[in-house]
Amino acid sequence: MLAIQVASPNQHIRPLTSRINESGHLTIGGCDVVELAQRFGTPLYILDEHTLRTACRQYTGALSRHYPGPSLALYASKALSLLAVSAVVAQEGMGIDVVSAGELLTALQAGVDARTVYLHGNNKSAFEIGLALDAGATVVADNWLDLETLADLAQDRPEPPRVMVRMTPGIECHTHEYIRTGHLDSKFGFDPNELPQVLAFLARTPTLHATGLHAHIGSQVFDLQAHIDTARVLVEWFNKALTLGLNFSELNIGGGLGICYTPTDDPPSIEQWVATVSRAIIDACQHYNVPLPRLLCEPGRSLIGPAGVTLYTVGSTKTVPDIRTYISVDGGMSDNPRPITYKAQYTAAVANKMNDSRRSVVTIAGKHCESGDVLLRDVELPPLAGGDVLAVFSTGAYNFSMASNYNRLTRPAIVLVSDGEASIVLKRESLDDLLRLDRLPERLQP
Ligand SMILES: Cc1ncc(COP(=O)(O)O)c(C=O)c1O
Repeated sequence: MLAIQVASPNQHIRPLTSRINESGHLTIGGCDVVELAQRFGTPLYILDEHTLRTACRQYTGALSRHYPGPSLALYASKALSLLAVSAVVAQEGMGIDVVSAGELLTALQAGVDARTVYLHGNNKSAFEIGLALDAGATVVADNWLDLETLADLAQDRPEPPRVMVRMTPGIECHTHEYIRTGHLDSKFGFDPNELPQVLAFLARTPTLHATGLHAHIGSQVFDLQAHIDTARVLVEWFNKALTLGLNFSELNIGGGLGICYTPTDDPPSIEQWVATVSRAIIDACQHYNVPLPRLLCEPGRSLIGPAGVTLYTVGSTKTVPDIRTYISVDGGMSDNPRPITYKAQYTAAVANKMNDSRRSVVTIAGKHCESGDVLLRDVELPPLAGGDVLAVFSTGAYNFSMASNYNRLTRPAIVLVSDGEASIVLKRESLDDLLRLDRLPERLQP
């Protein structure tokens, strides 16, 4: 058995089970990652089951310690929607937040109890809403179209479908503009100005069972105050809903807790985040003299991000004298679009040279036909040679889930590691897979 490190996974760059073995190789989950690269090929995503389970237990454990009312932590599966990940989080007693028919089916096929599944999205189709209702999931209404579709689809059902309302709380948080969602100028959720009409609509629509309110302010957030403010706004509107006679019983504070990508990142721990949010909800409920709602939260990045590592094989090198040395690897923006999209930064290590203390400054480039396809800029690493295995940390969230086939690259496999065993949880795409959906009209055939 591996020694268990009890730490908040989101405060660590490497998965909690990372070690260095006698060959000077990085090991994760008891597996030598250089051997994993040889066995499964690269690029390869690795997921450390222990790190994922630890994060799940910290959310559920902290909720039961700090929040005296009922609670449920949901996994925001947009971070990485896979059967295996859904099964692990469900085993850990969590529910799942989904945003599409595909994520919904993944959760359901993994055996997640539909009563713990919540469907989000700012432009859900009637088909997606219908699937969620047929399964018995809760739908989080983001706009009037959602409410109208729900009211339509609810008509012939024996039980009123459960519905929550997403609001934009008007909270600014410090994160990248594209992953900030709680400020008023956002495409998500109802503006507070509209909420009185929304609550009035729900009060006169008994075919819908409105259970409460949801807000999510953004992702990779380190600032606890933003979540305290969100909690207060949610309870303020919860109180207004109760005053109108609505039988609200749930509040969902969203996700957003940040993780460490580089040594300068300093996020609060999962325990601190849950304790702070719980306190803010309890205080606001006392202030408004309302009963404690069931508290939901929906972390994505802080659950799965630190569990993930991407392996690449080093290929060509180009040195631009007095400027920079580019080292190219066999993946890039197709398996990790975050650097080119958000200027996201990462930390890497050379998995087969973990005890090499020499350092040189290099830039790790991807293999795509795009100058911006750079995974790490000006980072210190041991001298690299062709065939070395580069491990990039904290890639569990929003890497595979945002991956593409740009330049017709095949998407990597994902292996789940635990106690020295590596199991494929997603097969590598083949070249045949790439062409599977192509059709060549007869008039173009040779
Ligand atoms: C509605 C909603 N909930 C939860 C999350 C998960 O956020 P994070 O991965 O930052 O925890 C997101 C992602 O942005 C989201 O849009």
